[in-house]
Amino acid sequence: MIGILRSTQGLLQRPIDARPLELTDTYSLLTTGGTILGTTNKGNPFAFPKADGTVGDCSEEIIDGYRQLGLDALIGIGGDGSLAILRKLAVQGGFNLVAIPKTIDNDLGSTERSIGFDTAVNIATEALDRLHFTAASHSRVMILEVMGRDAGHIAVSAGIAGGADIILIPEIPYSLDAVCGQIEALKARGRNFALMVVAEAVCTETGEKVTRTHALSQCRLGGVGQYLADHISAKTEAETRVTVLGHVQRGGTPSPLDRLIATAFGVAAVDLIAEGQFDPMVSWQHRRVVSVPIERAIAHYQAVDPHGTLVRTARAMGICMGDRVPERAPQAAVALP
Ligand code: F6P
Repeated sequence: MIGILRSTQGLLQRPIDARPLELTDTYSLLTTGGTILGTTNKGNPFAFPKADGTVGDCSEEIIDGYRQLGLDALIGIGGDGSLAILRKLAVQGGFNLVAIPKTIDNDLGSTERSIGFDTAVNIATEALDRLHFTAASHSRVMILEVMGRDAGHIAVSAGIAGGADIILIPEIPYSLDAVCGQIEALKARGRNFALMVVAEAVCTETGEKVTRTHALSQCRLGGVGQYLADHISAKTEAETRVTVLGHVQRGGTPSPLDRLIATAFGVAAVDLIAEGQFDPMVSWQHRRVVSVPIERAIAHYQAVDPHGTLVRTARAMGICMGDRVPERAPQAAVALP
């Protein structure tokens, strides 16, 4: 078993940046967040940034690096973007790939769960539990902005579990009037505070994504919480505060469920290689690990189902999902007999 350091970056380096993985490397792994091998989410090998500012295709160098290791198969661990890149490399290089879904966003198709999601939901729920007290003490509207890229899975799950009054997700168009209406309704019922969760990909009311550009020109989602806070304060005069949970959701001690799933996925991936079955992704379905074609998993994006169980549960509990009432076409008058 060889561990490749920093993913495709390790295969680009000469000598190749990889090291044997021993059983002793797994000691304490269950309680460790992140990855002991390192990773990268920048630099698509098919459009790789070069020192001169241009981009080029370095896929053949990566494939050559992989071949130098003389492996039987590669286990790729990641979300849809990483797995799509690894599959393209495997097809081009003619090597054997087995994939394990790992992303806090839980947006990969064909699996109910990916590694990291449960831990992120736990952390976001705990944050809401903590915000609850200061919201009540100071009579504030507390807004928690969570990650999830284009999907609202973390927001919905943590929002219900953490007793949010309002949950905004990119899958359900919202209106500020509906959000403010909920805050006013809570006030009228004698509640002096409100808890709100917003997924980072929720747009402004006029449909623009809110992003931040970090160093090295990396553009990431972030900031919609403050946009909402400013507009809610202006409309309701409520005192608002924003917490952007950020990368805290990706660290810390993994939850027991994530440890179980990661262990079961690892066992299943090795079994698939032993059986000579290549190009599948291990997947969690109906309390079992099954395997599905990687191609299908990455082609099918898993957004929150606006009519699914969790959204229906949230609505039934009186949680406002921000619904924008669709504008109705003018009705023709009907003459009754
Ligand atoms: O895909 C995982 C994720 O944490 C997203 O939820 C988030 O939008 C993004 O990565 C953040 O990326 P970075 O770590 O590059 O800031």
